[in-house]
Amino acid sequence: MKVLILKTKEEACEWVANHLILAIKEFKPTPEKKFLVLGLPTGSTPVPVYEKLVKAYQNNEISFKNVVTFNMDEYLGLAPTHNQSYHYFMDENLFNHIDLPKSQIHILDGLASNPQQECVDYEEKIASFGGIDIQLGGIGENGHLAFNEPGTSFDSLTHVQQLTDNTIEVNSRFFEKKSDVPQKALTIGLQTIFNAKEVIVLALGEKKAEAVYKSVRGEVSYLCPASMIQNHSNGIFVVDEAAALKLS
Ligand code: PGA
Repeated sequence: MKVLILKTKEEACEWVANHLILAIKEFKPTPEKKFLVLGLPTGSTPVPVYEKLVKAYQNNEISFKNVVTFNMDEYLGLAPTHNQSYHYFMDENLFNHIDLPKSQIHILDGLASNPQQECVDYEEKIASFGGIDIQLGGIGENGHLAFNEPGTSFDSLTHVQQLTDNTIEVNSRFFEKKSDVPQKALTIGLQTIFNAKEVIVLALGEKKAEAVYKSVRGEVSYLCPASMIQNHSNGIFVVDEAAALKLS
């Protein structure tokens, strides 16, 4: 695993966006592999990255015609039209502004009548595209990756996850009140993330410094899910100086 420390949030987001833009530009579809498969996060962290991808599309630098996406997670019980659903977030921040065909977008359905089956089907869908090529993720203040909270097994696949009070508290900033935050989510598992050919964790700001320190310097432990990336041969933490505060 590598750690890349960049001075500012802007530079860190620029690096990640450029990395994705280059991968999209360089991808040449073949009969065996028709699509570049991206695993995508929501949250505040990736917003500037998505802005840069939209700009690159608008400047005719890239097209998403040969891209397939799988989002990391979705709140259980929220309709895609709910303004705090991750469907809604992705449409607003990325999908509505690029030429990615709707049929190539995958997001777990928060209203699935059988959530467990939805998770099984999602894993199968990912496998049907040959797995995720580049998984981008943020990190929670408690070290979670996607909604894999501390204590989640490293060999977990897509599953229904009970959210911790810390995550509900942190995410309540997007809702009117804390009790509006769903208690459960559908999330890809830690094994799903680890199976990606490349994993990029983007962490910005001082609030993430402790989680970055534990993930990068701490022992590899299910108590800090992101520490798993230490063992990924093609894993990279991209952090700004504020998030790297405890590494020096
Ligand atoms: P954030 O969330 O980007 O909004 O900080 C990241 C996460 O909780 O994984």
